[in-house]
Amino acid sequence: MKIFLDTADVDEIRRAADAGLIDGVTTNPSLLAKVAGDRDPKEIILEICEAVDGPVSAEVVALDADTMVSEGKRLAGLHDNIVVKVPLTEDGLRACRRLRSDGVRVNVTLCFSVTQAHLAAKAGATYISPFVGRIDDISGDGMDLIVQIRQVYDNYSIETEILAASLRHPQHVVQALLMGADCGTLPAKVLYQLLKHPLTDLGLEQFLADWRSLGADL
Ligand code: E4P
Repeated sequence: MKIFLDTADVDEIRRAADAGLIDGVTTNPSLLAKVAGDRDPKEIILEICEAVDGPVSAEVVALDADTMVSEGKRLAGLHDNIVVKVPLTEDGLRACRRLRSDGVRVNVTLCFSVTQAHLAAKAGATYISPFVGRIDDISGDGMDLIVQIRQVYDNYSIETEILAASLRHPQHVVQALLMGADCGTLPAKVLYQLLKHPLTDLGLEQFLADWRSLGADL
């Protein structure tokens, strides 16, 4: 499963990319608003593209298809890594179809049902982003949506990649892996939780103490 970092914080992205931990980045207007201050968000998107060798999702903010397409083309023109994010609305799917026919990769975002995911695939989406955590937030079962989309996409040999989004803790990531999501996007906190294990720390401490007792150099 490809791991994307869900952030617009360039330092976090550089750290994870330098360690080879991530395959790409997803941003959204809320994540950009957290870090931008008075900077132009397009500059930040460009910096992100230069920090990671992989897809970087950047979202349009218009509601009508024509403006979404022109915003999407402007975003795609910023850097080859850009994947244009459009919302899962009728106009979003129109824009998806048009951007795809111009060769622009599209991530259809804000997906909350299997029928939405099916329509996004028919519009040619490169990625579909079901928001697992936000479904859990309203007492639903976000991971069940991943299972259903996987089943439908496999039934019809659909190539749209399932990008499990809004993953909030390591157990979400475990489930996304087991359910066969193609990609998962998660915040930096969750990424480092995936890496840490108390038995690794304890084992390492013991190995180093035993080595020190030898009084030798390596
Ligand atoms: C995905 O592309 C979204 O940016 C993100 O995963 C949303 O996560 P949240 O529900 O934790 O805000």
